[in-house]
Formats: sequence, C-alpha cells, structure tokens
Amino acid sequence: MKIAKILPLTLSVFFGWHANAAAPNPRILVAYYSLTGKTEKVARAIADASGGQLYRIMVDKSYPDDTSERRDVLEQEIEQNYLPVLKVTQINPEDYDIIFLGSPVWANHISQPVKSLLAKYNLKGKRVIPFVTHSGGGRGESFDDVAALCAGCIVDMDGWSNWGGGTGRRLTKWVQQQIKDVD
Ligand SMILES: Cc1cc2nc3c(=O)[nH]c(=O)nc-3n(C[C@H](O)[C@H](O)[C@H](O)COP(=O)(O)O)c2cc1C
Repeated sequence: MKIAKILPLTLSVFFGWHANAAAPNPRILVAYYSLTGKTEKVARAIADASGGQLYRIMVDKSYPDDTSERRDVLEQEIEQNYLPVLKVTQINPEDYDIIFLGSPVWANHISQPVKSLLAKYNLKGKRVIPFVTHSGGGRGESFDDVAALCAGCIVDMDGWSNWGGGTGRRLTKWVQQQIKDVD
C-alpha cells in the first residue's frame, strides 16, 4: 500500500477522523420519517455532515408488507388526511436551534407521519429545514406543507429534495452551508 493511502487511514484510526463527519452538535436535530429507507439514507448523511442528533419518526401501527396493498392503505389515509398516532418519543424541541425535517413525498405532499409530528410538537421559533425524497415527481408542495403546518417556525424554503435518496458531496456541502452560523 502506498504512503498516500496509508497516511489518511492511520490518521483516521488515531484521531477518529472521518472525511464527512462533523463533531456532535446537540443543538441540531435531524428528524425524519422513512417507509422504505430512502429518506433515512439522506437523514443519516445529514446527521453525519452536521453532527445533529438523528431521530426517526415512527407510527404506532404496521402497514401491509405487500407493496400495492400498502399503497392502497396509504392512499386512503392521504385522501382522508388521517394523522397516524406516533410512537411515544422523548424529543424536547427546546433542546434544538435547527431541525432538519425529512419525509418522502406522498401524493405531492409531505407524508402523513410528518404531519402528525408537526401537529404534536410546538416548534415555534425554531429554524426548520425540510428535506424530501421522491421517485421523480419532485418536491411537489412538501416545503409549503411544512411552512403551513409549522406555526411560527422559520422554515427554509430552499430545502433539500432528491430522487431516490441519493447522498454525496453536494449534500454534505449543502448541510455545511445550512449550519455555518451554528457552533
Ligand atoms: C403513498 C405514496 C405516495 C407517493 N407519492 C409520490 C409522489 O407524489 N411523487 C413522487 O415522486 N414519489 C411519490 N412516492 C414515492 C416516494 O416518495 C419515494 O419512493 C421516496 O423516496 C420513498 O422514501 P422512503 O424510502 O424514505 O419511504 C410515493 C410513495 C408512496 C408510498
């Protein structure tokens, strides 16, 4: 192995250094809902790049394993604007200055569980940065939903949106840009 390859490896072992990993930042929360893992991938990358605390939004029910049956159930819930009950959690919004809020795009909007979260917690005064994944239809009205449902929040309408949960250097740079004023 060449020295150019050995040196970064050795440094990372000695100093716990990782190319994209930021030091933990207890004032940043990365909350997300993910049904099939794509938004979760992005959430993990954002937590890695920001040092934020990762928080998975979970609903207190299970959906059918079969994809098309599940889609039918979800579409009905979306149609009725049903807000699923969330599993009991321990987040205290007061602990955070910045909240990255992630969701898959469902029928051009944020997912119902994220709506449940916004109904449950008072995030007034918090800077909320939405991020969404979709399957080609774009962010739709998802950022507007966050702005409409998060009373008194400072919502960053220039959030992150991508197809299929891709991550990479562009995402890391975007995160660093978002948090540059927070130490
Ligand atoms: C009920 C439902 C509705 C969806 N509606 C849209 C949509 O309007 N536009 C789109 O591009 N993708 C749509 N999708 C696809 C998801 O947004 C996409 O697969 C997303 O990356 C999944 O994220 P997840 O793996 O974190 O759940 C929908 C998926 C489901 C289950």
